Amino acid sequence: MNRYSRITGTGSYLPPRRVTNADLAAELGASGVETSDQWIVDRTGIHARHFAATDVTSSDLGAQAARNALEAAGIAAGEIDLIIVATSTPDMVFPSAACILQNKLGIAGCAAFDVQAVCSGFVYALTVADSLIKTGAASKALVIGAEVFSRILDFTDRTTCVLFGDGAGAVVLEASDTPGILASDLHADGKHVGILCVPGTVSGGKVMGDPLLKMDGQAVFKLAVGVLEDAARATLAKAGRTAEDIDWLIPHQANIRIMQGTAKKLKLPLDKLIVTVDQHGNTSAASIPLALDAAVRSGKIKKGDTLMLEGVGGGFTWGAVLVDF
Ligand code: UT7
Repeated sequence: MNRYSRITGTGSYLPPRRVTNADLAAELGASGVETSDQWIVDRTGIHARHFAATDVTSSDLGAQAARNALEAAGIAAGEIDLIIVATSTPDMVFPSAACILQNKLGIAGCAAFDVQAVCSGFVYALTVADSLIKTGAASKALVIGAEVFSRILDFTDRTTCVLFGDGAGAVVLEASDTPGILASDLHADGKHVGILCVPGTVSGGKVMGDPLLKMDGQAVFKLAVGVLEDAARATLAKAGRTAEDIDWLIPHQANIRIMQGTAKKLKLPLDKLIVTVDQHGNTSAASIPLALDAAVRSGKIKKGDTLMLEGVGGGFTWGAVLVDF
């Protein structure tokens, strides 16, 4: 009998502090950085984002999302035998946020590690977990995207600081004799490192270089629209499906114009597009599982629906996963 993996529960968590565009514009304006609700909405579709308190870490947000996913799946934390956290904002240089999160769930012993693929992190992590389940190395996995991007934003740079937010999303992925994860397609091109990066590091007890996010928004925009279509088509081809089989498109939530452009290229009606960027901003590796959980809990996504998940971001990385939910 073939062995596959299926999503059996979803969960998410947003830190309570919600910051509207107007709130942010007022805060930035007080330090001479000019922006407006209208500019942010027109260029990105973002209306609000959540920011975590300064003592809250990615593993805190991720653990809460994981608890919600475990509850939805109806399984206990102790049954989990693999934890993968996709994050670019881990709690520490090491150990991984996944190990810290494992301890917060009150469990021990199972494999736990982080995946660093920036905004494509969740589709990378889901593909790794699917592969480990298919080989028999794991049976019940937690796959989590968790970020505190507010920590790495330059609040004097209006071209980036208005775009991002904090949050976490999680899925429970379990072994099954029927396929849930149908196919995936992952890519990276390291020659584009400079268009989206946090160039600083820690060395000799000091921060070396700039530890805040830098982005050439237009370069990222142009690359993103092309690769998201390619990754979706490649994934569909691997699964022997067509774009008409997609019930819901859940792209990385960075910019409504990129998301709508991808849907149009795939000839999907815009009502098949799951949108949470308006309320969450860009939460990097957390954006896809946050959007997935919101759509499951609102009743939009139902059991048996076919989902196309798509990530794109720093690296440059991109990828897609096709799922029968
Ligand atoms: O998560 C990884 C994936 N990341 C992305 O997908 C981001 C992709 N890029 C984008 O979403 C868009 O490129 C942005 C939203 C970042 C920028 O939108 P844009 O339409 O490319 O704007 P722009 O950079 O061309 O800037 C247009 C104008 C500029 O003014 P001038 O030079 O025309 O006078 C900017 O200085 O808008 C100005 N501007 C702002 N004005 C008010 C830039 N940021 C702001 C701001 N508020 N926050």
